Amino acid sequence: MSKKVAIIPGSFDPITNGHLDIIERSSKIFDEIIVAILVNPDKKYLFTLEERVEMIEKSISTLSNVKVDSFCGLLVNYAKKVNSNIIVRGLRAVSDFEYEMQLTSMNKSLDSNIETFYMMTNTKYSFISSSVVKGVSGFGADLTKFVPKIVSEKLEEKLKEEQNE
Ligand code: PNS
Repeated sequence: MSKKVAIIPGSFDPITNGHLDIIERSSKIFDEIIVAILVNPDKKYLFTLEERVEMIEKSISTLSNVKVDSFCGLLVNYAKKVNSNIIVRGLRAVSDFEYEMQLTSMNKSLDSNIETFYMMTNTKYSFISSSVVKGVSGFGADLTKFVPKIVSEKLEEKLKEEQNE
């Protein structure tokens, strides 16, 4: 039987404990997981691609069947390139549903072989998003409840860089 390779796509700007929870749980279900970071030249990210890769690699170092990659353009084309037809996404709340349904429907109409699986985020992470974490950083809050340690350190570094600019 061929290996079941699943892609977990996202911006990961930066990775949160909510993302990590989905990655860890999926790694027990599928043979191989590719965490695929979107590079959209029209979008402004807080972290460079290299920084986003580094933060994810350090956070998943104990998961032997998970690797990190990046892609530009359409996700369905990237999936073909890596011989996968499986996408995994986390669903935090009803508010995520509409956007996720659009994403899944668009991918399905672009490539009918693509199957998207949704996993409910652990409720303790259901309010966490990269944007919310960036919004509270810099005010002395303990971010390690929301993001891996490497990410909280990098967020502090970024803020210092911005203050010195
Ligand atoms: O973490 P995000 O920003 O919610 O992830 C969104 C992502 C990267 C999964 C989505 O924007 C995407 O797949 N973009 C690539 C372009 C594409 O394939 N678009 C078609 C589906 S709408």
